[in-house]
Amino acid sequence: MQGLNITHFSAGYPKRQVITDLNVPALPRGKITVLLGPNGCGKSTLLRALAGLNRARGELWLNGEELMAQPFSRRAEQVVYLPQTLPAGVHLHVLESIIVAQRAAGGRSHAGSEAEVMALLEQLGIAHLALSYLDQLSGGQKQLVGLAQSLIRRPALLLLDEPLSALDLNYQFHVMDLVARETRRRNIVTVVVVHDINIALRHGEHVLMLQQGKLIADGPPSQVITPDSLARVYGVRGRIEHCSQGTPQVLIDGLVDAVS
Ligand SMILES: Nc1ncnc2c1ncn2[C@@H]1O[C@H](COP(=O)(O)OP(=O)(O)O)[C@@H](O)[C@H]1O
Ligand SMILES: [Mg+2]
Repeated sequence: MQGLNITHFSAGYPKRQVITDLNVPALPRGKITVLLGPNGCGKSTLLRALAGLNRARGELWLNGEELMAQPFSRRAEQVVYLPQTLPAGVHLHVLESIIVAQRAAGGRSHAGSEAEVMALLEQLGIAHLALSYLDQLSGGQKQLVGLAQSLIRRPALLLLDEPLSALDLNYQFHVMDLVARETRRRNIVTVVVVHDINIALRHGEHVLMLQQGKLIADGPPSQVITPDSLARVYGVRGRIEHCSQGTPQVLIDGLVDAVS
């Protein structure tokens, strides 16, 4: 059984269950799954629980292997979670920090590892930052370094929590393009939380929509992102229009219960 299957999965905190009995049929390999949902609906809780960082119950099957029963070290080799807010930067060079991430993931340090890291920084468009200190980077630059640290660990399941939130338009596009390419090339399962519905429409190949810890819809973007789901989940009146080049775009006209 390929991809990620989530069955009877519940997750949360000691005094608060956030995700209750979630069932998600086969998240595909080689494609970007976008996770959508309003603030506080449980997106970060879900991703952290998939990575084994939050308490959870249920079954998780990744490419035919049960993750929940695995020791944390084995799970951490396969699943990488890039948090929404990165920890305060330590006083390390960007290059060193990525080599540390690579070693932590069991990658042997070898003569080629620095070249591999430089190639990845090049791909991300941040090779010029290789010798900069992490604690002297801007928020967006840190996000790009976090992404490099995640990719170098070569996970089978890559979980990116709002990786675009501090990026300018150019880098947003660039990062989604790169993540899609790497997801395809490595044939991995990638789940990305984004807030921008137009980015979800353009780059999401599979979409999950969450509301109050429950799955509202799951499937191709055109089936999941509809005026009806936007109204139910976000409380907005939205239209999906096709631009002159045929790309779907979401336009928001107002709030569902506002008098127009
Ligand atoms: N450490 C925590 N302890 C208790 N409750 C938490 C904790 N972190 C988040 N929550 C609660 O869990 C719910 C889901 O939060 P979160 O998963 O961060 O939402 P999202 O990422 O979708 O915005 C929220 O109601 C939030 O207040
Ligand atoms: Mg979150």
